[in-house]
Amino acid sequence: MIKKPVAKILGTGSALSGKVLSNFDLEKMVDTNDEWIRERTGIERRYILEEGKANSDLAAPAAEEALKEAGLVAEDLDMIIIATITPDTSFPSTACRVQAKIGAKNAAAMDVAAACSGFIYGLTLANSLIATGAAKHVLVIGSEVLSRITDWEDRGTCILFGDGAGAAVLGPSEGDKGILSAYIKADGRLGDLLHLPGGGSLNPATHETVDQRLHYIKMEGNRIFKHAVRTMRDAALHGLDLAGVDASELDLLIPHQANMRIIEAIQSRLKLSDEQVFVNIKDYGNTSAASIPIAMNQARREGRLKEGNKCLLVAFGGGFTWGASLIQF
Ligand code: ACO
Repeated sequence: MIKKPVAKILGTGSALSGKVLSNFDLEKMVDTNDEWIRERTGIERRYILEEGKANSDLAAPAAEEALKEAGLVAEDLDMIIIATITPDTSFPSTACRVQAKIGAKNAAAMDVAAACSGFIYGLTLANSLIATGAAKHVLVIGSEVLSRITDWEDRGTCILFGDGAGAAVLGPSEGDKGILSAYIKADGRLGDLLHLPGGGSLNPATHETVDQRLHYIKMEGNRIFKHAVRTMRDAALHGLDLAGVDASELDLLIPHQANMRIIEAIQSRLKLSDEQVFVNIKDYGNTSAASIPIAMNQARREGRLKEGNKCLLVAFGGGFTWGASLIQF
């Protein structure tokens, strides 16, 4: 959509908190084992947020770290976008709760629900707001507490998910650094492959919906796997094409951390070396909208993402949604 960078990332942050739940802990909860989980997913452990805490308790510290690195204060923000499918409450939005927590009194605030592609959706919106002059400084957060909607009796899903938050502060770019492409897509016909049936206007909470376990994630893992590989590839190629960049020129690919085998399929289709792909799924599991900003922050702190590097973010998620963004740091 946009080739010339109008917006760039000024700072990043992340937050992980709570109990670390290992595959061995899961062995005691459902009929599974460490070897199966590692071989099928690449996951070894994940964070589970403390009881009594909520999404905004992760999102706010991630935002504060990003603001600090950007050299800005909360009052400088014009907009807060939180990508999440696990808000504190249906409303007010988690973005409004974070606005109050960090004291961003000049910012508008809203949530975006695009599941695991949410951070790229948020980044695309932020880029457009900065491009039109509607906002100067935009905070984009991906934050999830998936443990609260995970069915801990369903071995097909409970091994996958974890909690966490990642954030980026964006501002105007005058030079070569910034967002070189932002591509987002959806196909609502695939919505039932991954969904939360209960709690909305379709199935409001009743004793029956609770008894039927409708307030937990339902997933058709096998079918998602196939669409994930297809849509991640589509997103990656569009993200590169729109920026006029070849895969061989990439310094780093940061894919959504859903499953190691999905990441390997994208890596092989783009013909990338291990050094060109950032993977941290082992330690955090699938944190949905938080996975890319957590990985991006980690890659920067570990020196895997340096000044001038070209980095492709690519994600797929429930909806179905998918997207990619090429960023020059
Ligand atoms: N432990 C042990 N055995 C298991 C487990 C488990 N946790 N789960 C399933 N099995 C068994 C199955 O019952 C099946 O047994 P059977 O052959 O006797 O019937 C066997 O293992 C194989 O099951 P599959 O479902 O075919 O396993 P698959 O290789 O597809 O792996 C998985 C399952 C990991 C869920 C995979 O399909 C996947 O990762 N899919 C993508 C899911 C995903 O990424 N979801 C998130 C989307 S992003 C978002 O928006 C949140």
